Amino acid sequence: MIHSENGTGGPTRMERVAVLIFEDPAQMAQRVAARISSLMHEGKEANRYVVLGLPTGSTPIGVYHELIRLRQQEDLDFSNVVTFNLDEYYPMQPQSLQSYHRFMRENLFDHVNIPEDQIHIPDGSVAPSEVESHCHQYEAMIRSTGGIDLMLLGIGRSGHIGFNEPGSKMEDRTRLIVLDEITRKDAASDFFEERYVPRQAITMGVGTIMESREIILMATGEHKAPIIKRAVEEPPNEIVSATYLQHHPNAAFYLDRAAASDLTRERTPWLVRAVDWDKQVTKKAVIWLSRTLKKAIQQLDAPDFHRHHLHELVYAWGNVDELCRQVFEDLRGRVLYKNQLPTDTSIVVFSPHPDDDVISMGGMLKKLVENGNRLQVAYMTNGSVAVFDQDVRRHLRFVELANPLLEGLRSQDLLEERIDRILRYLDEKEPAQVDTDEVQALKAFIRYTEAISAVEVIGLSESDARFLDLPFYKTGRVKKDPVGDEDVRIIVDLLKERKPDHIFVAGDLSDPHGTHRMCYHAIKLALARYRKETGDGEKPLVWLYRGAWQEWEIDVADVFLPLSKADLTTKIEAIFKHESQKDRALFPGAYDDREFWQRARDRNCDTANALDELGLPEFYAAEAYVTVREMP
Ligand code: F6R
Repeated sequence: MIHSENGTGGPTRMERVAVLIFEDPAQMAQRVAARISSLMHEGKEANRYVVLGLPTGSTPIGVYHELIRLRQQEDLDFSNVVTFNLDEYYPMQPQSLQSYHRFMRENLFDHVNIPEDQIHIPDGSVAPSEVESHCHQYEAMIRSTGGIDLMLLGIGRSGHIGFNEPGSKMEDRTRLIVLDEITRKDAASDFFEERYVPRQAITMGVGTIMESREIILMATGEHKAPIIKRAVEEPPNEIVSATYLQHHPNAAFYLDRAAASDLTRERTPWLVRAVDWDKQVTKKAVIWLSRTLKKAIQQLDAPDFHRHHLHELVYAWGNVDELCRQVFEDLRGRVLYKNQLPTDTSIVVFSPHPDDDVISMGGMLKKLVENGNRLQVAYMTNGSVAVFDQDVRRHLRFVELANPLLEGLRSQDLLEERIDRILRYLDEKEPAQVDTDEVQALKAFIRYTEAISAVEVIGLSESDARFLDLPFYKTGRVKKDPVGDEDVRIIVDLLKERKPDHIFVAGDLSDPHGTHRMCYHAIKLALARYRKETGDGEKPLVWLYRGAWQEWEIDVADVFLPLSKADLTTKIEAIFKHESQKDRALFPGAYDDREFWQRARDRNCDTANALDELGLPEFYAAEAYVTVREMP
């Protein structure tokens, strides 16, 4: 963990608020839970209540898990805790799937002993005419407890704390607000589609939050990195509400490394402090300089370094030409052509959803097939949550028409009756309702058939695709269960069967409770168990590809795989086979209107262009990978 104090002038002088960076989100959660537990002990000794302000969303889940663990394993007593939640959607019934009342019950309150009458959450079910007085009462209740001791916050990509969207003022109190477009897009997956996300919410105001005695804002995942940079490094402003926290005497930002990755101290550390010029930082600085100046690495000269705060690097090396040559050669050595890739080995490709494989590593897959490797593509989850009802209807129609031809069910009437039942269910389904097991299974089959067609495009066959259907995913909702023993066992069995020399894993740095990170975690646990059970000899090389959204930074990637125009065309054709995700995906990710195939194409072409600009050959496109022996 790295700690920087508030203020100017220190090694992190761009930062206007205290920032703590944690290597592992679990470590961060433990630290926050420990702070809460110590406040509870202090409260007990002084015979008084401890008042907590609590957020919902994916970020605090780790803290809530840890608090539950402390309750269950260490008998931590919550009877002196009073809670005030930050916000609730409006309108929203407390029992709804998406309500914050339900979220808090499921993730914390049902598992700890906070007395019911000490729990407060804004009520999204009050009549419009009563909202204002409800907000006043909420404020009065907070005041009557003596104010909030510790306020936990998440941060939205709009910069909101609570639901204080851009435009909020520092004095604002609890009120009804209109949600920002980006917030509604981010919430779309919880509501199954953006159009079902409420337009308003009741939220504590910035003024209410600022009166807390202590504030911890937590953020995890690379998707938070740009807004964290703004919240930490911009002066207080009403566009990014989280910047107001800079005025608080006891506020700190707790970040994992991914959320901190855009901070100046992480991206260009030499601009804010003396750095240890090891190989990695040296390479990062030279690539940064080359890209900033749009000048190939081998064309950089000493004045370029001096003019961009890199004097120390020049002095450390003495000879700029040799420095540039070495960085360039290092990069060149990372470009691997097909004949340098594994040949005739056993490979398992883990794909979190049925499509991440071709989106992220379709080019690699094709070349590994051509090199005669024994491949198994293991789809970890069934991806059913992301299939539109309309696609189920279309496939049912196909079954109905094909049944007599294929001499399927002997009774066409019986089949039609069953199909009618499902179609009726779909017609009557409420917005954002969880599907029946039957419909979830049909949606999974749609994705399985697409995945098989996709791998066929790159030269594999049905038997090379394996559908693990891990149990943690099968909640029918976006919120998943924790990874369990059964999930790990399924992966260990596959490893034992295939004895891979290489495995490919999605190495996203996204939200730790997102499916990709959960799959990563499950593989990591499985690999450790596999090694233990088979002896230390079994150590597949792990190739990390970077999910469906982003690509590895040039200075971080170990392998660049050049793709020709024909390679990229084949890859795109394979992505096209995932028809249920084409044209309009159910969960396209916020603020990016491009389809998955367009993102994959742009990402691979961007990597090739970046290499070209650094002075490497002008490839058509390229995929990037990081290789490790131990999964970090
Ligand atoms: C929710 C809340 C919001 C969230 C923020 C981040 O109660 O107050 O400010 O903390 O939208 O949400 P996640 O953690 O889901 O990224």
